[in-house]
Amino acid sequence: MCGIIGIVGQDTVADRLIEGLKRLEYRGYDSSGIAVLKDSKLLRSRAKGKIIALQSRLQSHPIDGNIGIAHTRWATHGAPTENNAHPHFAGTVGVVHNGIIENFTALRESFKGQREFVTETDTEVVAHLIDHEITLGAEPIEAFRKTLKKLSGAFALGIIIDGLDGHIYAARRGSPLAIGLGDGENYIGSDAIALASLSRDIIYLEEGDWAVITQHKIDIFDADDNPVVRPVTHTSGSLAAAKKGNYRHYMLKEIHEQPETVGHALTHYIDAFNHQAVSLEGLDFKDVSRLTIIACGTASYAGHVAKYWFEQIAELPCEIDIASEFRYRRPALDTKGMALAVSQSGETADTLAALRYCQSKGLKTGALVNVMTSTMAREADVALPINAGPEIGVASTKAFTAQLTSLLALSILAARQRGVIDEAREVELCSELTQVPRLVSEALLLDEDIQVLAQDLSKATSAFYLGRGALFPLALEGALKLKEISYIHAEGYAAGELKHGPIALIEEGTPVIVLAPHDELFEKTISNMQEVASRGARVILITDPEGALAAGHMADSVLISPACAMQTAPIVLSVAIQLLAYHTAVLLGTDVDQPRNLAKSVTVE
Ligand code: G6P
Repeated sequence: MCGIIGIVGQDTVADRLIEGLKRLEYRGYDSSGIAVLKDSKLLRSRAKGKIIALQSRLQSHPIDGNIGIAHTRWATHGAPTENNAHPHFAGTVGVVHNGIIENFTALRESFKGQREFVTETDTEVVAHLIDHEITLGAEPIEAFRKTLKKLSGAFALGIIIDGLDGHIYAARRGSPLAIGLGDGENYIGSDAIALASLSRDIIYLEEGDWAVITQHKIDIFDADDNPVVRPVTHTSGSLAAAKKGNYRHYMLKEIHEQPETVGHALTHYIDAFNHQAVSLEGLDFKDVSRLTIIACGTASYAGHVAKYWFEQIAELPCEIDIASEFRYRRPALDTKGMALAVSQSGETADTLAALRYCQSKGLKTGALVNVMTSTMAREADVALPINAGPEIGVASTKAFTAQLTSLLALSILAARQRGVIDEAREVELCSELTQVPRLVSEALLLDEDIQVLAQDLSKATSAFYLGRGALFPLALEGALKLKEISYIHAEGYAAGELKHGPIALIEEGTPVIVLAPHDELFEKTISNMQEVASRGARVILITDPEGALAAGHMADSVLISPACAMQTAPIVLSVAIQLLAYHTAVLLGTDVDQPRNLAKSVTVE
């Protein structure tokens, strides 16, 4: 995984490469580096840690040139050290790489006794392969082409070569790569966001493509080495880097943006005037036999919640699986079924592979994404936006609630198309949904109460989240949020399942966060709450005013979220679990926006 950027320019590139890298930091941030060609010589600078460390290294020991490549890393092969940081050099060749070269061990072995490897990475061998061909007399383009044939795995590559001013070689197989068109200069980047301050005219390399890029020319070849022309896409200004404003962290800003972002998601799917789900071109659930949702991480929990909605509201059989399992379990799929990939980035490697698997089995596919220029959006039959705007905090918040909002609206659309709800019910469901932006803004008022509760939670070593129905996946998401940013061990459980084992972990003072609005499952969840309370758990009940009245006295603490319809509760209650994780992490002094070991977009499997 990782982010890459390259510039073949008419002016110096170091500052601009760093600027681009910062936009890519969501892809990993354990080390970074740049390489430039200066007077035809390869120079590089690398640093362990975030890009700011590289920046200060460059201030004390500047390097620059008119052509360069840069990289921010999320370690897969080899520890996150300066020595394993990209770019990797071998002889005349400098390489940045995103992805995994799966056959790197065999390739390294093939050089045994001939070449010295100085890193633990899978990438270094790429530089050696190209350099080896060049020393045998191949032209650089030929050396690059031959090398690509030897590599297996998923990768995007950017390469510069000593003595060869003015050329960047690039390739895409499995991992995304974009080319930006400039005036007298050209660029490569892992995505359009990286290139946003450089160019709005973007060419997305297609699977297997490789390219030779100079200041004035871009030659693209397909997987069979035939020259090809790929379309130029004009991206919008909305890719500009998001700013933190007055907020202490991006995550807090993004939590507070949710009344607006949920509203943006709604606008696309709900006609608020007529209280109807909007019909969307190419999307008809009428004859769909089964909906298969595939996703990873937080997006998969949005999918879990949506399963309840599609089955309850639209009577559409729905399965949800995490993409890394789905893609290898050879799922039995019905060609009358539809697959829906849910992904903030639209680039997560496992989700993309699962989507392609479904396509290969003849299913109609949709991609619910935040980045409409992403690979999933381009490859699925129908691209569905969540309109959350750039999400910078690694722990997903506003994308999650925008996914939920969009999925709930889609389930209403499916219900109408399948003829299982009448007009009155559609109006009722849509009007409940249109209240969500207001309810989310009311839920944000819990912030101060949550700050107080976080004091205790921050002292815990382990916590549990319980919920039933569509709030069970929200319990999973609550636990994930806490783990990700506070590093406190947490588990989400279906409230009725806890007694089948995990209840053994409850001790005096173990925090248990119970998600129980006053809905049809309320009594049952409260019984489960009492089971843990009587074993010493310290219960935080997240409920609505009616629930607080009925059961507030049985909990140690109560957070009263605004009253809302049962269907919209997972969206409204999200705010409380997000703020609880956020304030706990702040008290513990962790790096909230860029937690250890994580990355925002995971483009390796
Ligand atoms: C990473 C992020 C998570 C995210 C998951 C799926 O693990 O840290 O926050 O939920 O990837 O990402 P996607 O872009 O597909 O939604």
